[in-house]
Amino acid sequence: MKRVTLPAYAKLNLTLDILGRRADGYHDLRMVMQAVSLHDDVTVALTEEDGVVCRCGEIPGDESNLAVRAARAFFAATGTPPCGLAVDIVKRIPAQAGMAGGSADAAATLRALRELLLPTLPDEALREIGAAVGSDVPYCVLGGTALAEGRGERLTPLRSAPPFRVVLCKPDFGVSTPALFARADERGVTIRPDTEAMLRAVETGDAAALCANVANAFEDVLGDERDAVLAIKARLLALRAEAAAMTGSGPTVFGLYRDEAAARAAYEALRPDYAQTFLTRFV
Ligand code: C5P
Repeated sequence: MKRVTLPAYAKLNLTLDILGRRADGYHDLRMVMQAVSLHDDVTVALTEEDGVVCRCGEIPGDESNLAVRAARAFFAATGTPPCGLAVDIVKRIPAQAGMAGGSADAAATLRALRELLLPTLPDEALREIGAAVGSDVPYCVLGGTALAEGRGERLTPLRSAPPFRVVLCKPDFGVSTPALFARADERGVTIRPDTEAMLRAVETGDAAALCANVANAFEDVLGDERDAVLAIKARLLALRAEAAAMTGSGPTVFGLYRDEAAARAAYEALRPDYAQTFLTRFV
Protein backbone atom coordinates (compact mmCIF):
# COMPACT_ATOMS: atom_id res chain seq x y z
CA MET A 1 0.00 0.00 0.00
CA LYS A 2 1.41 3.40 -0.98
CA ARG A 3 1.60 5.78 1.95
CA VAL A 4 3.28 9.03 2.96
CA THR A 5 3.72 10.53 6.45
CA LEU A 6 4.38 14.26 6.79
CA PRO A 7 4.65 16.65 9.74
CA ALA A 8 1.93 19.33 9.99
CA TYR A 9 3.49 22.27 11.85
CA ALA A 10 1.52 24.70 14.02
CA LYS A 11 1.83 28.41 13.22
CA LEU A 12 1.89 31.53 15.27
CA ASN A 13 1.30 35.14 14.32
CA LEU A 14 4.26 37.40 14.98
CA THR A 15 1.88 40.14 13.86
CA LEU A 16 -1.84 40.21 13.00
CA ASP A 17 -3.39 43.39 11.63
CA ILE A 18 -7.07 43.69 10.63
CA LEU A 19 -7.38 46.12 7.71
CA GLY A 20 -11.15 45.95 7.25
CA ARG A 21 -14.23 43.96 6.32
CA ARG A 22 -14.70 43.01 2.67
CA ALA A 23 -17.82 42.74 0.56
CA ASP A 24 -17.60 38.92 0.65
CA GLY A 25 -17.79 38.93 4.49
CA TYR A 26 -14.13 38.02 4.99
CA HIS A 27 -11.59 40.49 6.35
CA ASP A 28 -8.45 41.82 4.77
CA LEU A 29 -5.58 40.95 7.04
CA ARG A 30 -1.86 41.55 7.14
CA MET A 31 0.07 38.97 9.17
CA VAL A 32 3.64 37.83 9.64
CA MET A 33 3.39 34.09 10.17
CA GLN A 34 5.92 31.72 11.69
CA ALA A 35 5.88 27.92 11.84
CA VAL A 36 6.86 26.22 15.11
CA SER A 37 8.07 22.70 15.85
CA LEU A 38 4.85 21.56 17.56
CA HIS A 39 3.27 19.32 14.91
CA ASP A 40 0.71 16.68 14.07
CA ASP A 41 1.78 13.66 11.99
CA VAL A 42 -0.40 13.10 8.94
CA THR A 43 -0.25 9.74 7.15
CA VAL A 44 -2.09 9.41 3.86
CA ALA A 45 -2.42 5.92 2.36
CA LEU A 46 -4.03 4.81 -0.90
CA THR A 47 -6.55 2.02 -0.19
CA GLU A 48 -8.63 -0.44 -2.20
CA GLU A 49 -11.89 0.76 -0.63
CA ASP A 50 -13.99 3.71 -1.87
CA GLY A 51 -14.02 7.04 -0.13
CA VAL A 52 -11.94 8.89 2.42
CA VAL A 53 -11.58 7.43 5.92
CA CYS A 54 -10.05 9.87 8.39
CA ARG A 55 -8.98 9.16 11.97
CA CYS A 56 -7.99 12.20 13.96
CA GLY A 57 -7.89 11.36 17.68
CA GLU A 58 -10.81 12.99 19.51
CA ILE A 59 -11.66 15.21 16.55
CA PRO A 60 -14.35 13.94 14.13
CA GLY A 61 -12.96 12.52 10.88
CA ASP A 62 -16.10 13.45 8.94
CA GLU A 63 -16.68 16.15 6.31
CA SER A 64 -16.12 18.83 8.95
CA ASN A 65 -12.45 17.80 9.14
CA LEU A 66 -10.30 20.09 6.99
CA ALA A 67 -8.07 17.15 5.98
CA VAL A 68 -11.09 15.41 4.41
CA ARG A 69 -12.14 18.64 2.69
CA ALA A 70 -8.60 19.05 1.39
CA ALA A 71 -8.60 15.55 -0.12
CA ARG A 72 -11.92 16.23 -1.89
CA ALA A 73 -10.68 19.61 -3.12
CA PHE A 74 -7.49 17.96 -4.45
CA PHE A 75 -9.44 15.42 -6.52
CA ALA A 76 -11.88 18.07 -7.80
CA ALA A 77 -9.18 20.59 -8.79
CA THR A 78 -6.67 18.21 -10.36
CA GLY A 79 -9.11 15.90 -12.15
CA THR A 80 -7.30 12.92 -10.58
CA PRO A 81 -9.86 10.12 -10.31
CA PRO A 82 -10.89 9.93 -6.62
CA CYS A 83 -9.37 6.82 -5.06
CA GLY A 84 -9.74 5.21 -1.65
CA LEU A 85 -7.81 7.07 1.04
CA ALA A 86 -6.99 6.52 4.68
CA VAL A 87 -5.88 9.68 6.46
CA ASP A 88 -4.46 9.05 9.94
CA ILE A 89 -3.64 12.06 12.07
CA VAL A 90 -1.61 11.91 15.27
CA LYS A 91 -2.95 15.05 16.91
CA ARG A 92 -0.78 17.23 19.14
CA ILE A 93 -1.79 20.78 18.12
CA PRO A 94 -4.79 21.84 20.23
CA ALA A 95 -7.99 22.61 18.29
CA GLN A 96 -9.58 26.10 18.29
CA ALA A 97 -6.35 27.49 19.62
CA GLY A 98 -5.19 30.06 17.05
CA MET A 99 -2.42 27.76 15.84
CA ALA A 100 -4.05 26.62 12.55
CA GLY A 101 -4.00 22.96 13.60
CA GLY A 102 -6.81 21.94 11.25
CA SER A 103 -5.31 23.96 8.40
CA ALA A 104 -1.91 22.36 8.99
CA ASP A 105 -3.48 18.90 8.68
CA ALA A 106 -5.22 19.96 5.46
CA ALA A 107 -1.94 21.30 4.03
CA ALA A 108 -0.05 18.12 4.94
CA THR A 109 -2.83 16.06 3.31
CA LEU A 110 -2.47 18.09 0.10
CA ARG A 111 1.30 17.69 0.08
CA ALA A 112 1.00 13.95 0.71
CA LEU A 113 -1.55 13.55 -2.11
CA ARG A 114 0.75 15.41 -4.47
CA GLU A 115 3.62 13.10 -3.54
CA LEU A 116 1.47 10.00 -4.05
CA LEU A 117 -0.50 10.98 -7.15
CA LEU A 118 0.81 14.07 -8.97
CA PRO A 119 4.44 14.88 -8.12
CA THR A 120 4.73 17.50 -10.87
CA LEU A 121 1.97 19.72 -9.41
CA PRO A 122 3.58 23.11 -8.59
CA ASP A 123 3.46 24.58 -5.09
CA GLU A 124 1.37 27.49 -6.29
CA ALA A 125 -1.37 25.17 -7.57
CA LEU A 126 -1.36 23.31 -4.27
CA ARG A 127 -1.72 26.59 -2.34
CA GLU A 128 -4.61 27.60 -4.60
CA ILE A 129 -6.43 24.34 -3.82
CA GLY A 130 -5.74 25.01 -0.14
CA ALA A 131 -7.30 28.49 -0.31
CA ALA A 132 -10.67 26.91 -1.13
CA VAL A 133 -10.42 24.77 2.03
CA GLY A 134 -9.55 27.55 4.51
CA SER A 135 -7.80 30.92 4.74
CA ASP A 136 -4.76 29.57 6.65
CA VAL A 137 -4.22 26.48 4.47
CA PRO A 138 -2.06 28.17 1.76
CA TYR A 139 0.33 29.47 4.43
CA CYS A 140 0.50 26.00 5.99
CA VAL A 141 1.45 24.56 2.57
CA LEU A 142 4.28 27.11 2.40
CA GLY A 143 5.50 27.08 6.04
CA GLY A 144 8.48 28.92 7.51
CA THR A 145 8.36 32.71 7.91
CA ALA A 146 5.95 34.51 5.56
CA LEU A 147 3.81 37.60 5.08
CA ALA A 148 0.15 36.69 4.55
CA GLU A 149 -2.25 39.25 3.09
CA GLY A 150 -5.78 39.40 1.71
CA ARG A 151 -7.88 36.71 3.37
CA GLY A 152 -4.56 35.12 4.38
CA GLU A 153 -3.98 33.44 1.04
CA ARG A 154 -1.71 36.06 -0.59
CA LEU A 155 1.76 35.00 0.51
CA THR A 156 5.25 36.42 0.38
CA PRO A 157 7.92 34.03 1.65
CA LEU A 158 10.40 35.79 3.95
CA ARG A 159 13.92 35.10 5.08
CA SER A 160 13.83 32.68 8.06
CA ALA A 161 13.32 34.62 11.28
CA PRO A 162 16.15 34.48 13.86
CA PRO A 163 15.97 31.24 15.90
CA PHE A 164 13.71 31.58 18.95
CA ARG A 165 12.50 29.11 21.52
CA VAL A 166 8.75 29.44 22.02
CA VAL A 167 6.59 28.64 25.02
CA LEU A 168 2.97 28.12 23.95
CA CYS A 169 0.28 28.18 26.60
CA LYS A 170 -3.41 27.57 25.92
CA PRO A 171 -6.06 28.24 28.56
CA ASP A 172 -8.82 25.70 28.93
CA PHE A 173 -11.38 27.18 26.52
CA GLY A 174 -11.74 27.87 22.81
CA VAL A 175 -12.48 31.17 21.05
CA SER A 176 -14.90 31.61 18.13
CA THR A 177 -13.05 33.29 15.24
CA PRO A 178 -16.20 34.69 13.55
CA ALA A 179 -17.34 36.16 16.90
CA LEU A 180 -14.03 37.99 17.32
CA PHE A 181 -14.20 39.34 13.77
CA ALA A 182 -17.77 40.54 14.45
CA ARG A 183 -16.57 42.38 17.56
CA ALA A 184 -13.73 43.94 15.60
CA ASP A 185 -16.32 45.21 13.05
CA GLU A 186 -18.54 46.67 15.78
CA ARG A 187 -15.90 48.30 17.93
CA GLY A 188 -12.94 48.77 15.62
CA VAL A 189 -9.45 47.90 16.79
CA THR A 190 -6.85 50.20 18.26
CA ILE A 191 -3.95 47.72 18.30
CA ARG A 192 -2.28 48.18 14.92
CA PRO A 193 0.96 46.23 14.52
CA ASP A 194 3.79 47.95 12.66
CA THR A 195 4.04 45.28 9.97
CA GLU A 196 6.73 47.15 8.05
CA ALA A 197 8.95 47.25 11.14
CA MET A 198 8.42 43.51 11.66
CA LEU A 199 9.32 42.84 8.01
CA ARG A 200 12.52 44.87 8.42
CA ALA A 201 13.36 42.99 11.64
CA VAL A 202 12.95 39.64 9.87
CA GLU A 203 14.86 40.78 6.79
CA THR A 204 17.83 42.03 8.84
CA GLY A 205 17.71 39.18 11.39
CA ASP A 206 17.25 41.71 14.22
CA ALA A 207 15.90 39.59 17.09
CA ALA A 208 15.37 42.54 19.47
CA ALA A 209 13.39 44.51 16.86
CA LEU A 210 11.38 41.39 16.08
CA CYS A 211 10.40 41.12 19.77
CA ALA A 212 9.58 44.84 19.98
CA ASN A 213 7.10 44.52 17.11
CA VAL A 214 5.14 41.40 18.10
CA ALA A 215 1.44 42.46 18.22
CA ASN A 216 -2.04 41.03 17.57
CA ALA A 217 -5.10 43.24 16.90
CA PHE A 218 -7.44 40.51 18.16
CA GLU A 219 -6.23 41.09 21.73
CA ASP A 220 -8.22 44.33 21.53
CA VAL A 221 -11.60 42.67 21.04
CA LEU A 222 -11.48 39.68 23.38
CA GLY A 223 -14.68 39.23 25.40
CA ASP A 224 -14.96 37.04 28.50
CA GLU A 225 -11.63 35.45 27.58
CA ARG A 226 -9.69 38.67 28.01
CA ASP A 227 -8.55 38.33 31.62
CA ALA A 228 -7.40 34.72 31.22
CA VAL A 229 -5.42 35.54 28.07
CA LEU A 230 -3.81 38.65 29.52
CA ALA A 231 -2.93 36.76 32.72
CA ILE A 232 -0.90 34.21 30.71
CA LYS A 233 0.76 37.01 28.77
CA ALA A 234 1.77 38.77 31.99
CA ARG A 235 3.13 35.53 33.44
CA LEU A 236 5.23 34.82 30.34
CA LEU A 237 6.69 38.33 30.48
CA ALA A 238 7.39 37.92 34.22
CA LEU A 239 9.08 34.62 33.30
CA ARG A 240 11.54 36.56 31.12
CA ALA A 241 9.87 36.18 27.70
CA GLU A 242 11.34 38.79 25.35
CA ALA A 243 7.90 39.18 23.77
CA ALA A 244 4.49 37.65 24.37
CA ALA A 245 1.20 37.84 22.47
CA MET A 246 -1.90 35.87 21.60
CA THR A 247 -1.67 33.96 18.31
CA GLY A 248 -4.42 34.24 15.67
CA SER A 249 -7.88 34.49 17.19
CA GLY A 250 -6.53 32.83 20.31
CA PRO A 251 -6.73 31.89 23.01
CA THR A 252 -3.16 30.46 22.92
CA VAL A 253 -0.46 32.88 24.06
CA PHE A 254 3.17 32.51 23.04
CA GLY A 255 6.38 33.77 24.64
CA LEU A 256 9.63 34.19 22.69
CA TYR A 257 13.04 33.32 24.17
CA ARG A 258 16.60 33.35 22.90
CA ASP A 259 17.77 31.79 26.19
CA GLU A 260 16.89 28.10 26.17
CA ALA A 261 17.15 27.70 29.96
CA ALA A 262 14.74 30.60 30.50
CA ALA A 263 12.28 29.06 28.03
CA ARG A 264 12.46 25.72 29.83
CA ALA A 265 12.00 27.39 33.22
CA ALA A 266 8.90 29.22 31.95
CA TYR A 267 7.52 25.98 30.51
CA GLU A 268 8.06 24.18 33.83
CA ALA A 269 6.45 27.06 35.77
CA LEU A 270 3.31 27.23 33.60
CA ARG A 271 2.68 23.53 33.05
CA PRO A 272 1.23 22.75 36.49
CA ASP A 273 -1.42 25.45 35.94
CA TYR A 274 -2.05 24.94 32.22
CA ALA A 275 -2.14 21.36 30.91
CA GLN A 276 -1.72 22.61 27.34
CA THR A 277 1.71 24.20 27.60
CA PHE A 278 4.37 23.39 25.00
CA LEU A 279 8.08 24.09 24.65
CA THR A 280 8.78 24.57 20.94
CA ARG A 281 10.99 26.54 18.54
CA PHE A 282 10.76 28.31 15.20
CA VAL A 283 11.06 25.99 12.18
O1 C5P B 1 -11.36 30.68 5.83
P1 C5P B 1 -11.82 30.06 7.11
O2 C5P B 1 -12.91 29.06 6.89
O3 C5P B 1 -10.70 29.52 7.92
O4 C5P B 1 -12.44 31.25 7.98
C1 C5P B 1 -13.25 30.99 9.12
C2 C5P B 1 -14.09 32.22 9.41
O5 C5P B 1 -13.25 33.28 9.87
C3 C5P B 1 -14.81 32.78 8.20
O6 C5P B 1 -16.07 32.22 8.06
C4 C5P B 1 -14.89 34.26 8.53
O7 C5P B 1 -15.97 34.50 9.40
C5 C5P B 1 -13.64 34.52 9.32
N1 C5P B 1 -12.53 35.08 8.51
C6 C5P B 1 -12.58 36.39 8.09
N2 C5P B 1 -11.54 36.93 7.39
C7 C5P B 1 -10.44 36.19 7.12
C8 C5P B 1 -10.36 34.84 7.54
C9 C5P B 1 -11.42 34.31 8.25
O8 C5P B 1 -13.57 37.11 8.35
N3 C5P B 1 -9.44 36.74 6.45
